[in-house]
Amino acid sequence: MSGRSSNITGNAGRTEKGSGGSGGTGSHHPGALSRRRLLGTAGAAGATGLVLGATGGAAGYAATRDDAPTALTSVGSSEVMFHGKHQPGITTPLQASGHLIAFDLAPGAGRKEAAALMRRWSAAAQRLMAGEPTAGGAADGTGHDTGIALDAGPSSLTVTFGFGAAFFERTGLADRRPPGLDPLPPFSADHLDSARSDGDLWVQIGADDALVAFHALRAVQKEAASTATVRWQMNGFNRTPGATAKPMTARNLMGQIDGTGNPKPADSDFDQRVFVPSGGDNAKYEWLAGGSYAVVRRIRMLLDDWEKLPVERQDRVIGRRRADGAPLSGGTETTAMDLDKAGPDGKLLIPDNAHARISSPERNSGAAMLRRPFSYHDGIATDGTPDAGLLFICWQADPLRGFVPVQRKLDRGDALSPFLRHEASGLFAVPGGAAAGEYVGQRLLES
Ligand code: HEM
Repeated sequence: MSGRSSNITGNAGRTEKGSGGSGGTGSHHPGALSRRRLLGTAGAAGATGLVLGATGGAAGYAATRDDAPTALTSVGSSEVMFHGKHQPGITTPLQASGHLIAFDLAPGAGRKEAAALMRRWSAAAQRLMAGEPTAGGAADGTGHDTGIALDAGPSSLTVTFGFGAAFFERTGLADRRPPGLDPLPPFSADHLDSARSDGDLWVQIGADDALVAFHALRAVQKEAASTATVRWQMNGFNRTPGATAKPMTARNLMGQIDGTGNPKPADSDFDQRVFVPSGGDNAKYEWLAGGSYAVVRRIRMLLDDWEKLPVERQDRVIGRRRADGAPLSGGTETTAMDLDKAGPDGKLLIPDNAHARISSPERNSGAAMLRRPFSYHDGIATDGTPDAGLLFICWQADPLRGFVPVQRKLDRGDALSPFLRHEASGLFAVPGGAAAGEYVGQRLLES
């Protein structure tokens, strides 16, 4: 979905930098002060006379020149808060550029080293998300920020941290490993590459600017220093904010509008579905309160086969129209699917094996998850097919009431399955957000 779509959230937790006077951060960022002293989006757009993308006035575009300081556009100036009840990057609107990176703790690194790493990572994430350079003296000893994002604002950067099952053994915290991290069951459609699956630590980075996102990726990798080594890394993307005339749900690389059926933050059961509650039966797991579980799957799309299908057949595979996301039972994208409605020939309008039918909470005892993916394209494979698909990331309070039952059912009869290949998988417990002065995971590592 588009970053501006309300399907995940509106602008909850996001503010815009650049509306004057807030630049006193002691920043080493040469452009930062001049930009932040200047007018906000409307002023910038007005000054240049250039406003593109009619997204409710939220996505102005200001032409810039090095020698003429200009306010950041709303894309650059949007800032997501690092501190909060939940980590950023879960209900944040989809960003245009994403990196996923998993690490394993280095031999000899235990709880103390992991705590120091989470402290370094949290400090770096907080600075980067505020649009500031890293503190200098990165743990790898280079002593300076890479400069990759020097001219940009926060650009909605989020950095989100999770722990894999093996993290708990390696840090001597096996008794604190929550049951939700039990391994996912095998599925018949799995073609999983273990080298690109799992990991002790997982970091999700998203930003609306590719350089800002890459800058954060480098910082995260450098801060890992000798404590953790990279296990796998994947890169993804979504539509750029302002690319569509109105905010809309994103499309995936099959061309489908993808994200319509997501739980909405305004739903009364949203938190219950997505976030781990506080005060569970067992105090051992209290560190995860306000957190969530991320299931990460690299799902290759067999696009050459998919694109051979006529559009009407593509629509029937999903149960929704590719053109506008409307269910085949009628209405518009936001009309509820009528799973019992039949056509004049007596056949169900949304076929029995349609993906949206099989995965719907209505048909899964209410099982639901918040899908927040990035598309990926890793070039053309040697057989000439695109190595492209979805970095499927879904968030839930309990994988056994979210991903697992739904994927089990999809595995048995989803019309979309012949066009997909699940190539990598990970399951991570994502702690709640850090309070001011705290680092992510502190409640696990220091209590
Ligand atoms: C590359 C793989 C996939 C593609 C291209 C895809 C595509 C879609 C599309 C186009 C929709 C309909 C629009 C919407 O509600 O978002 C949808 C719905 C949905 N999908 Fe997928 N999907 C994929 C994989 C999965 C997986 C692995 C799961 C979970 C195990 C899943 C769970 C769901 C759910 C829960 C819905 C919403 C159903 C509803 O609310 O009625 N999808 N998907």
